[in-house]
Amino acid sequence: GIDLALRPGAVQGLAGESGSGKSMTAMAVLGLLPAGGTASGSIRLGDEELIGMPSRRYRAVRGRRIGMVFQDPSASLHPQLTVGAQLTDVMRTHLGLSRAQARTRAAELLDRVRVPHPDAALKKFPHQFSGGQRQRVAIAIALACDPEVLLADEPTTALDVTVQAGMLHLLRDLAIERNLAVLLVTHDLGVMSAIAD
Ligand SMILES: Nc1ncnc2c1ncn2[C@@H]1O[C@H](COP(=O)(O)OP(=O)(O)O)[C@@H](O)[C@H]1O
Ligand SMILES: [Mg+2]
Repeated sequence: GIDLALRPGAVQGLAGESGSGKSMTAMAVLGLLPAGGTASGSIRLGDEELIGMPSRRYRAVRGRRIGMVFQDPSASLHPQLTVGAQLTDVMRTHLGLSRAQARTRAAELLDRVRVPHPDAALKKFPHQFSGGQRQRVAIAIALACDPEVLLADEPTTALDVTVQAGMLHLLRDLAIERNLAVLLVTHDLGVMSAIAD
């Protein structure tokens, strides 16, 4: 059992040893538990109850109202699609933006997460970026539809220690500036004490 509340503009930390169920907790919120897994009780997003929500409506929540950043950006980004295609797809699907509108917004997002040369970056594939830059791209995708909630599952574990701090400060700044409710999952208590509210 787990009981927690996220607040807009705050970073809530979820710590625990490996295998304790942190990732399953995030997956339960997204309605993506593996086959055979069920979540019971209540998961509320504003006034809406997510448990038992029909899958069609859940698809409008996932990626739109709840963004997710996974541990390993080389596994969560599609290797054969450009960063621009991956960023604009989600906005065209959920927000109904035109190709041109989505492109403009995609470049703004990359700039905000401090990926250098956003226009050129849109045309590149994930493997053409460093690990840290890839994770910034993944954060941009998670934020593309201006979600209310951002679930970050060990977002810095796959990165060099030198770029971890920058990534965590970025998440914190984004939480405040976008009034995002962030769940930061980690097994690193140092990270947690530095960043979480
Ligand atoms: N609430 C739960 N009920 C049943 N099994 C669980 C539960 N939480 C986690 N597990 C099992 O434990 C495994 C590890 O959980 P996971 O969420 O990946 O841990 P963490 O992210 O904390 O390392 C999962 O694959 C799942 O099989
Ligand atoms: Mg995990």
